[in-house]
Amino acid sequence: MAGVCNPAFRLIAKEFGAGLVCAEMVSDKGILHENERSLKMLYVDEREKPLSLQIFGGERESLVAAAKYVDKNTNADIIDINMGCPVPKITKCDAGAKWLLDPDKIYEMVAATVDAVQKPVTVKMRIGWDEDHIYAVKNAQAVERAGGAAVAVHGRTRVQMYEGVADWDIIGEVKKNVSIPVIGNGDVSSPQEAKDRMDQYGVDGVMIGRAALGNPWMLYRTVQYLESGIIAPEPTAREKMNICMLHMDRLIDLKGEDVAAREMRKHAAWYLKGLPQTGSVRNAINQMTTREGMNKLLFDYVDQLEEVQKIS
Ligand SMILES: Cc1cc2nc3c(=O)[nH]c(=O)nc-3n(C[C@H](O)[C@H](O)[C@H](O)COP(=O)(O)O)c2cc1C
Repeated sequence: MAGVCNPAFRLIAKEFGAGLVCAEMVSDKGILHENERSLKMLYVDEREKPLSLQIFGGERESLVAAAKYVDKNTNADIIDINMGCPVPKITKCDAGAKWLLDPDKIYEMVAATVDAVQKPVTVKMRIGWDEDHIYAVKNAQAVERAGGAAVAVHGRTRVQMYEGVADWDIIGEVKKNVSIPVIGNGDVSSPQEAKDRMDQYGVDGVMIGRAALGNPWMLYRTVQYLESGIIAPEPTAREKMNICMLHMDRLIDLKGEDVAAREMRKHAAWYLKGLPQTGSVRNAINQMTTREGMNKLLFDYVDQLEEVQKIS
């Protein structure tokens, strides 16, 4: 997830049991122009592996060149191609979800990439452009014919953005019609849902996005449920804030305290989700500019909450 899945969060996801972590999408042109921000996004901590680095682009030459760069210069295990980003800035450049309208282009682009690199190439796609153009099966078959190693399918169209619900029946159709691994994605919000989707649609894995925001326990609890059928308890407020601060410390190591403090505002709000009486702490988060301030704010909240819980 762009703006989220940097090494700070990815390492936490890994430590909480994710089988494969995926990095935020990086522009092919950004890589080729050696844009500092783009190159920093290619950094992989050994402890996160196996890891998938995702690139996006609309033109064959630059996409292949960027894939070659990632292949040679990073320790990622997989090169993933973004074929799902719905944002106009991206689709206007014929990148992201725009490909979904053209299975021939998918074949050509993926085949050229596969030929140019050593690492396995995978694709992350949506089911289609809009409800009149759902080519999920054809598109996944194009990926397979081109030598793609796996495909992850988000069960929404481009036009849906993040509205409506993910259509898992179409993901199931994809699974039935290709022999490469299919990873289903969209709206998996509990361990039981992850298992139900796998059982019902036969997918080889599930990809969990938003449900893990501020909630890496979602990953741990899902893995444990899949492996043993046991539903682990939800974390306490203190456990959540401990991981939130670990996240912040890692983000500070990556980006420095100023940037990390600003970025942590959204993460801290996610870590607080589902906890009681968070109104004032949520407001205060948005003023935080330092680690010390954030730490005090969050643990003052936890202390007060535990006091109230002791009394009641
Ligand atoms: C903030 C945010 C950033 C995202 N960035 C990416 C991205 O860089 N690459 C990608 O393939 N999908 C990206 N996605 C889409 C997710 O990977 C996923 O397909 C979508 O959120 C549906 O899954 P979920 O219901 O489990 O969240 C992003 C989603 C969100 C919410």
